[in-house]
Amino acid sequence: MADLTAVIDLDLPGPRISRHVYGHFAEHLGRCIYGGFFVGEDSDVPNVRGIRQDVVEALRAIRIPNLRWPGGCFADDYHWRDGIGPRADRPRMVNSHWGDVVEDNSFGTHEFMDLCEMLGADAYISGNIGSGTVREMSEWIEYLTRADDSPMATLRRANGRDEPWRVPFWGLGNEAWGCGGNMTAEFFANLARQYGTYVRNHNDNDPYRIAAGANADDYAWTETLMQSVARLGGDRLQAPGAPYQGISLHYYTMSGDWADKGDATQFSTEEYYRTVRKAQHVRTLVEGHGAVMDAYDPDKKVGLVVDEWGTWWNVEPGTNPGFLYQQNTLRDALVASIHFDVFHDHADRVVMANIAQTVNVLQAMILTDPDTGALVLTPTYHVYAMNVGHQDADTLRVTVHGDVRDTESDGRRVPLFSASASTKDGSALVSLSNLDADADLTVVLDLRGREVTGHRARVLTAPELAAHNSPEAPDAVVPAALEAVRPHPAGLEVTIPAHSYATVELDLA
Ligand code: AHR
Repeated sequence: MADLTAVIDLDLPGPRISRHVYGHFAEHLGRCIYGGFFVGEDSDVPNVRGIRQDVVEALRAIRIPNLRWPGGCFADDYHWRDGIGPRADRPRMVNSHWGDVVEDNSFGTHEFMDLCEMLGADAYISGNIGSGTVREMSEWIEYLTRADDSPMATLRRANGRDEPWRVPFWGLGNEAWGCGGNMTAEFFANLARQYGTYVRNHNDNDPYRIAAGANADDYAWTETLMQSVARLGGDRLQAPGAPYQGISLHYYTMSGDWADKGDATQFSTEEYYRTVRKAQHVRTLVEGHGAVMDAYDPDKKVGLVVDEWGTWWNVEPGTNPGFLYQQNTLRDALVASIHFDVFHDHADRVVMANIAQTVNVLQAMILTDPDTGALVLTPTYHVYAMNVGHQDADTLRVTVHGDVRDTESDGRRVPLFSASASTKDGSALVSLSNLDADADLTVVLDLRGREVTGHRARVLTAPELAAHNSPEAPDAVVPAALEAVRPHPAGLEVTIPAHSYATVELDLA
C-alpha cells in the first residue's frame, strides 16, 4: 500500500528551469581558489596553466553553467587591476574578511576567464561597489569584452589576450547591507543604478546586471530595489539599457545560530529535522521576495538570483576558522534537493542560483586534501549529477495526494517529502526526497498525458545521515540504481529508502 500518490501531467509543461539555477560560486576564501581550483604551474597536481584538471573534469561532468567570482565579501575589497599583468609584478593585498591572509593576486582576471573556458561555463563577475569606483567597474567590463583598439582592449592585448571574452552576468556589489559597505537600501539602490549604468554593453556582450539583494527575509531591501528600477518605467525593466535586470538573495541553512552554527558531521535527529525545516524555509523566502517583485513587475521581467545558498556549519576542528572548510554529508545532499525543488517550482522568477561554494568552502561539490591533493566528490555533488536533466527543461507540476508524513521542529511542522519534475527532449525527470530519518516511503507516480516507454531510477543514500566521502572512502555516498520501482496501473510505484534522494527518468513516446 503506497503512502502517497504524486500526479504528474507529462503533457502540460510549465516555465523553463534555467540551467543557471545549477550555478556555482568561487571566492578568494580559504582553499577555494588557491589549492582548490588553482594550484600553480609548478604543482605536482596535474594542471593546465595552474588550473587543476580533475576539478575541471568533475565540474564539466555536472555541466556547470556559470561561475561567480571573485566574491562574496572579497569582491568589495577587490581591485581588478591588481590581478593582471606579469604575476611577479602584481601587488599584494590583505584578505581582511577571510583569515586576514595576504593575497598575492596570482589568480586574476585572465586566470578566471581561462578557468571558465576550460569549464565551458559562463562568467559571472561580481563587481566592487563597496570600495571600488565607477571608473574601475566600467574599465573592467571594457577590458573583458571590447574588441577594438579602445584603451582597455589594448591593455588586455598587451597582457596576452587578443579576442574579447563574453561575460554574460555582472554583479553590482555584494551584501551591500553588510560586508559590502553597510549601506542602507535607499543609498545602495542609487549606487546600483549609477554603477549599473556604466557596466556598458560592448560588442553585443549585453550583460545581465544583478544588484546585490537581500539577506534572507529582508523584504524591504527587495522592495526598495524594485521601486528604484520600476521608477525607470515598466518597458525598460529588462531592457539592455536598464541599470540592473536581476536582484540577488542570500540565504544560508544551519541547525544552530550564527554564533554556533552546528557541526557538519556530528548531529542529532532533532538537529537534522531543524536543518530540514531551515532548508524548507527557502520556499517562504522565494515566495515572499517573489510577491514583492510581482507588485512592481507582474510580468516577471526582473529575475531573482539566489547567488549564495547552502549549509554553513562550524569549521572542521583544527582548520582555520576564517577558511570556512566543512565536511559534507548526506544531510547536505538533502538540503540541496529541497532547494532545487523550490527553484524548479519558481522557475518563472528564479533565473539563477549559486551554491556557496564550489571547492573546499561551505557546502562544496569538491573537497581537496591540503597535503596529498586528493580530490573527493561530496554527496552534494551527486545531487547536481543526478539533476543534470533538469537543466533547461520545462517544469511539470507534481500534485501530491495522501498524508505527507511530518514531524515538528521548534513548534513548526516539517513535511518529510519533497518533489519536483521536468521534461525535455522526449524524456521527463522526477525528483523525490524522502526526508524521514527512519522510515521508507512508497510513492505511486500517477503519470498522465503521455505514454511512458521506459524508466531508470537512481538513489543517493547511506546507512547514516552523517555519512560522507573522504579520500579513504570516496564512494561512501554515491548514487546507485534504485531497484524498488514496480509497474502500477497508474504508472509506477517507487519505494524510497529513509533519508534519501531519488530520481526517476522516464522515456516518453
Ligand atoms: O560565502 C561566504 C560569505 O557569505 C560570502 O563572502 C558573503 O557574501 C556571505 O556572507
